[in-house]
Amino acid sequence: MSFDAIDVIITKRDRGELSDGQIDWMVGAYTRGEVADEQMSALAMAILLNGMNRREIARWTAAMIDSGTRMDWSALDRPTTDKHSTGGVGDKITLPLAPLVAACGAYVPQLSGRGLGHTGGTLDKLESIPGWRASLSAEEMLGVIRSAGAVVCAAGAGLAPADRKLYALRDVTGTVESIPLIASSIMSKKIAEGTGALVLDVKVGSGAFMKDVGTARELATTMVELGIDAGVNTVALLTAMDRPLGLQVGNALEVAEAVEVLAGGGPSDVVELTVTLAREMLAAAGLDGKDPADALKDGTAMDAWRRMIAAQGGDPDARLPRAAETMDVSCPADGVLERLDAYAVGLAAWRLGAGRTRKEDPVSHGAGITLHAKPGDAVRAGQPLMTLHADEPARFERAIEALEGAYSVGASAGPGLLPLVIERVKGE
Ligand code: URA
Repeated sequence: MSFDAIDVIITKRDRGELSDGQIDWMVGAYTRGEVADEQMSALAMAILLNGMNRREIARWTAAMIDSGTRMDWSALDRPTTDKHSTGGVGDKITLPLAPLVAACGAYVPQLSGRGLGHTGGTLDKLESIPGWRASLSAEEMLGVIRSAGAVVCAAGAGLAPADRKLYALRDVTGTVESIPLIASSIMSKKIAEGTGALVLDVKVGSGAFMKDVGTARELATTMVELGIDAGVNTVALLTAMDRPLGLQVGNALEVAEAVEVLAGGGPSDVVELTVTLAREMLAAAGLDGKDPADALKDGTAMDAWRRMIAAQGGDPDARLPRAAETMDVSCPADGVLERLDAYAVGLAAWRLGAGRTRKEDPVSHGAGITLHAKPGDAVRAGQPLMTLHADEPARFERAIEALEGAYSVGASAGPGLLPLVIERVKGE
């Protein structure tokens, strides 16, 4: 049956429900180039303004999955489990988490993305390791999983192509911030990836997509429902992104911090979130063997990391790139660091060269920010509060501008700081 794009747009513009047939046709025809960008942008705006119900979101997600291929891990002899983060500043958790969960007995097939704007991308971080390759064929992915237990690589062009096209359109039409569209975009890729279990890390705060707990909960609930309806055992955690995660922000800097965690050290927030998410991933996969905290201490997670990096052409012992120039930002007063705004730190790191403006831009692997204090830490006037890293000194001025008003020193940590793990959302 054929439909008319104008009727579909008008249905949603007038707050109607889209039928299964309308959704299947619109997503399919747009992917094939039979519906124009301007028509799909009108529909995306109508969806942003008027929403979609649970059936519509599930059907929209299924149509995006059906626009491409679905990966199949049934040849593997262990359960598969994965994590997706909605993105934040200093969020390097995938790096220690994937090998850690592999060391505890699950397989982790993770398709990741690159950074855009103030949040970093896992592939950009891993590409700072000399030789490491993000693009793998399906056979290579299977080989890496079998040898290392985990693979982190780029999604091929065949995975949810409708989302690829629609996401680029949303990016330039002010239609990114729609819960049905974000949820279906993320979950179409994760369901097509073929994982058996999924843990969603939905970030909340200035450095995240979702600035408050209420909207983050709504997004988490929508994604968990989509996962469960598609047969993927899915849970979500809402976690803090009002301040950066860990002490390092920037590609190679974050890889170094992840390696510290795998070596049994590292900042306490990164360790706590890595272990918490690992336990959730293992539980969602029905595994209750080795405790992830032990695998960080006994070196087995580090062994899995080294195998995973080497299997993708990387040298786990190679020296990581460093930026040519550094500059310290001094603490203005004695006291306690009250707050350190995640968005401002992410923006400053981006201006230092750690992120990109257009998706074809290169990133500087050594650029970023090292934090010397986090909210709640005692600080002294004149001590370095953070060190900025950049390849060109001309970048420092704009980064410093981004940091203006981003931190304050007082008598105690600010009252509004979010707990690291705010709440858990599970399916009905
Ligand atoms: N990440 C995605 O993959 N899609 C969105 O819509 C937003 C974030």
